[in-house]
Amino acid sequence: MKRDFLAETDFSKKEIIETFKLARKLKKKVKKGEKHHLLRGKVLGMIFQKPSNRTRVSFEVGMYQLGGHAIYLGPAEIGLGTRESVADVARVLARFTNGIMARVFGHDLVEGLAQWAPVPVINGLSDLLHPCQILGDLLTIIEHKGTFEGVRIAYVGDGNNIVNSFINVAGILPLDLRVACPKGYEPNAEILAAARAKAVSKIEVMRDPVEAVNGADVIYTDTWASMGQEAEAEARRKVFKRYQVNSKLLEHAARDYIFMHCLPAHRGEEVTDEVMDGPHSVVFDEAENRLHIQKAIMVKLMA
Ligand code: CP
Ligand code: NVA
Repeated sequence: MKRDFLAETDFSKKEIIETFKLARKLKKKVKKGEKHHLLRGKVLGMIFQKPSNRTRVSFEVGMYQLGGHAIYLGPAEIGLGTRESVADVARVLARFTNGIMARVFGHDLVEGLAQWAPVPVINGLSDLLHPCQILGDLLTIIEHKGTFEGVRIAYVGDGNNIVNSFINVAGILPLDLRVACPKGYEPNAEILAAARAKAVSKIEVMRDPVEAVNGADVIYTDTWASMGQEAEAEARRKVFKRYQVNSKLLEHAARDYIFMHCLPAHRGEEVTDEVMDGPHSVVFDEAENRLHIQKAIMVKLMA
């Protein structure tokens, strides 16, 4: 039966660990220039309702490196659910491709694609979740900290798709996760309750960014206004002002902390230049790991 990757919870703990291992193996092959055509002749259809740099390029390059091909379908092309129904788009694309990656607004759209497409569907970001990002981020944490277990992660800012994905993973892998966000901007309550019910990790949601960052090994932030929330950007800048990740806040972090951001960053808003470009920042390693983790995910689903 075909498998999808719409949410972190689509993979078991064992499968997530295997994905990290495969990603590291494939990364080594890329660095050594060794061929690894595990998806030779296969095609990935990529639907984008929103803009992208990392997701588009890493999936496209990833398919090329795996001996396959990727087709970019931008916001003006498919008209997912408008020009054509989600069910029809899914069934048509599945006749041409071996897998579909979709970046969408409503999470129900990736679920609809997965329901109707007889090929694997991968979530390349929805308003609710960004699972490829978070698995790649954990790979980056493993590379820099040796493990994710016992590593204290502080997320400061909006309770958005990135945080929801972190929380989902915390229901599967043992993480030490603290989220600091303003009132009214908390992560998804159902996702939080489900992850806490699994009792795998310590997950704390608080208001105070200093409390969250205190002694943390990983400091993570993301934009205050996600794609689709552009009209709220001005109002959000006011609400989130004290959640900026800057040198002063980072005085409270562990001495050898790493700074992470899924990017794109809004320099001067959620993070300062000094932090982004400082010695603790691993944001470009993090961006690169999107390639390696997604290749592993595609091999698991499409090989
Ligand atoms: N982090 C991330 O998904 O980047 P893009 O929006 O550029 O794809
Ligand atoms: N929360 C951001 C993540 C971008 C990769 C957004 O959804 O726009």
